Amino acid sequence: MQCSSDYKEVIILSSEQQASRAPLGVGILGAGPVTQAIHLPSLARLRDILEVRHIMDVDLAVAESVAGRVGAHFSTSMEELLADPDVDIVAICSPHQFHAAQVIASCRAGKKAVLCEKPFAMSGEEAAGISAVSAETGVPIIVGAMHTFDPGWLAAEEAWEDLPEKVHTIRSSIVLPPNPRFEDFATEIVGRVPMPDRDSTDPEVIKAMLKGGVMGLAIHDLPLVRRFTRDFASVEVLHAEIARPFGYVISLRAGDVTIELRAAMNATWEPSWVFEAIGNDAALKIDFTPSYVHAGSATAQIRKAGQTTVLGPFGHNGYEGEWRKLAELARGTGRPPSAETLIHDLEFALAIAESAASRFDTARVDAGTASGTTADEEINA
Ligand SMILES: NC(=O)c1ccc[n+]([C@@H]2O[C@H](COP(=O)([O-])OP(=O)(O)OC[C@H]3O[C@@H](n4cnc5c(N)ncnc54)[C@H](O)[C@@H]3O)[C@@H](O)[C@H]2O)c1
Repeated sequence: MQCSSDYKEVIILSSEQQASRAPLGVGILGAGPVTQAIHLPSLARLRDILEVRHIMDVDLAVAESVAGRVGAHFSTSMEELLADPDVDIVAICSPHQFHAAQVIASCRAGKKAVLCEKPFAMSGEEAAGISAVSAETGVPIIVGAMHTFDPGWLAAEEAWEDLPEKVHTIRSSIVLPPNPRFEDFATEIVGRVPMPDRDSTDPEVIKAMLKGGVMGLAIHDLPLVRRFTRDFASVEVLHAEIARPFGYVISLRAGDVTIELRAAMNATWEPSWVFEAIGNDAALKIDFTPSYVHAGSATAQIRKAGQTTVLGPFGHNGYEGEWRKLAELARGTGRPPSAETLIHDLEFALAIAESAASRFDTARVDAGTASGTTADEEINA
């Protein structure tokens, strides 16, 4: 007699059903620390829906070594990756100055969805160009602002009711060790480019650090800040200074909302990444996990009428959330963020970066020097 546990149901799938259940192919442009320490570990947890099939880097040794970890093809040419029929989704993880052109080329190659690491463009014109190509080709694009995909943030958004209309103060406060500490916890990095030393008392370096700090680090939370900033087009930076070795203190107003952006990247023992939106009778506080850390989601607290509602932590973080969203979009389910949202987020970030750089307080520049970098390098923070 056959026992019921030995019974196997035979399901015959049509070729269309089989295709819809097969993992989608991922191609990655740029295989630096973010690909190695963030995206490959996230994708390793999603093998049933996504499979890394092609890794491209301008450095052949990096492309070959990183592709070897996941059994993918490798190349040094974007065109080769985009011509690979096994690649359905393209992730752009190269340095930011290449992002706009690579997003546009990926859309034109007819891929099913595109993820672009932040910042996805460096000017309003570039952003508008991307949005036009996305509209023309119908290829959905998402930007790697991982907190906007964090289940803790998404649960708060469902629950906060009319809070965005009532907020008067927003704080984004980031205290982190330098990126290599977490990168090295996550994996063995190949091809890391060390940060050059620069004179961080030089006003031009300080301006570059402020701009880089906003476009590289603050930018993770600026879409969240903008969600609570009714008049986001009227940015007025009141104070801007750098923290050494890397960080910033920026105060600004946008309409009737006061915004504080603070970051310190130093040898801190306890990372902390907190976002707060405060109104007269209600407030939201979210504790995010640090960048690079794969340990579940943010935890949100909404305080209202003497009661605190705690949401999270949930099982996955915003990095995995990005990839889940991409898979949905590539399968034609789920809605991409509107082009208007992406453009307004970028315009908001650029306005803060530009006005912080022109506003910085020279009186606070002390005599110390520390490792400083160009704005381009800071943007990779
Ligand atoms: N989401 C996050 O938490 C997070 C954290 C840090 C950095 N970032 C962003 O991720 C991106 C990559 O950061 P990273 O630290 O890996 O940067 P990186 O600049 O150190 O490495 C990028 C890789 O791209 C390669 N490359 C250079 N030019 C290229 C080109 N034209 N096409 C393809 N590859 C090219 C380099 O050889 C290198 O291996 C940046 O946009 C950065 O702002 C995101």
